[in-house]
Amino acid sequence: MGRVQDKVVFITGAARGQGRAEAVRLAEEGADIIAIDVCEGIDSVDYPLASRADLDETVRLVEKLGRRIVALPADVRDPAALQAAVAEGVAQLGRLDSVVAQAGIAPIGRAEAQAFMDVVAVNFNGVVNAVQAALPHLPDGGSVIATGSTAALMQSSDMTSRPDFGKLGYSFAKRSVAAFVNDLAVALAPRRIRVNAVHPTNCNTDMLNSEPMYREFRPDLENPTREDALPAFHVMTAFGLPYVEPRDIADMVLFLVSDESRYVTGMQMRVDAGAIVQRRPQQPQF
Ligand SMILES: NC(=O)c1ccc[n+]([C@@H]2O[C@H](COP(=O)([O-])OP(=O)(O)OC[C@H]3O[C@@H](n4cnc5c(N)ncnc54)[C@H](O)[C@@H]3O)[C@@H](O)[C@H]2O)c1
Repeated sequence: MGRVQDKVVFITGAARGQGRAEAVRLAEEGADIIAIDVCEGIDSVDYPLASRADLDETVRLVEKLGRRIVALPADVRDPAALQAAVAEGVAQLGRLDSVVAQAGIAPIGRAEAQAFMDVVAVNFNGVVNAVQAALPHLPDGGSVIATGSTAALMQSSDMTSRPDFGKLGYSFAKRSVAAFVNDLAVALAPRRIRVNAVHPTNCNTDMLNSEPMYREFRPDLENPTREDALPAFHVMTAFGLPYVEPRDIADMVLFLVSDESRYVTGMQMRVDAGAIVQRRPQQPQF
């Protein structure tokens, strides 16, 4: 208990999935939360995004732990909305110590360039917008965390005559997050604000448990189900797991928010059950 006692953490995409797990895990350890989520769909995304009811459930779970939460619908593509949400949260909760920029979409299987633009706007621009909203409030020694993906660290796509612009954009956006974290860590070092990326492998959330992902993992079937995709999910990790759980990612985020990581910055932290090391078994580069 108390590893992040009385810290205030701003989380984007907090209505469900990893964002909700992070809100709950941080609240268990004494944090208060500023939570935003888009709470509606995006055209190029072929699975439902979170709803207002999902965001309300995150509120309920955090409050059940005796912590405070300010939760508002806001789109990470809208810098002014994020700035207003953070200002409202800080007004109510009194401070801000950390930002977890992790809202994301996966418009996999979409051939139009708009899918590329949409995923970059959410998964990359959204990270920059969240950092911009948080920075004026962060004290020296604060913590910035951005969620990438093992997709940031792998070859982007298979060869095909019909490019999947959603998938290409996803990899591009996540690689850009990794590079941004690297450079921002240097920029903010004089204030000892640390900046790190968390790169999950498959994670057991609605993004993975979606029809576009089933088709991605089972291109040999016309209408694959979760049962069809499960054996294929396993190829991602070296541990023989189909996915990690949202709480596994939340535990890494907890460490990065806490003072236990006060001298950890510019890191690309993988929570991937060996997904990358099994693909790149060479000596690590420093
Ligand atoms: N699930 C996986 O297998 C996996 C693997 C690697 C990385 N990731 C990354 O983890 C992060 C969290 O995803 P998840 O797995 O919890 O999926 P999820 O779909 O359950 O959660 C994503 C959340 O982000 C919200 N969101 C989407 N667009 C938004 C916008 N424009 N503004 C505000 N909120 C928005 C959604 O409504 C949803 O609540 C994402 O960045 C994702 O790319 C996921």
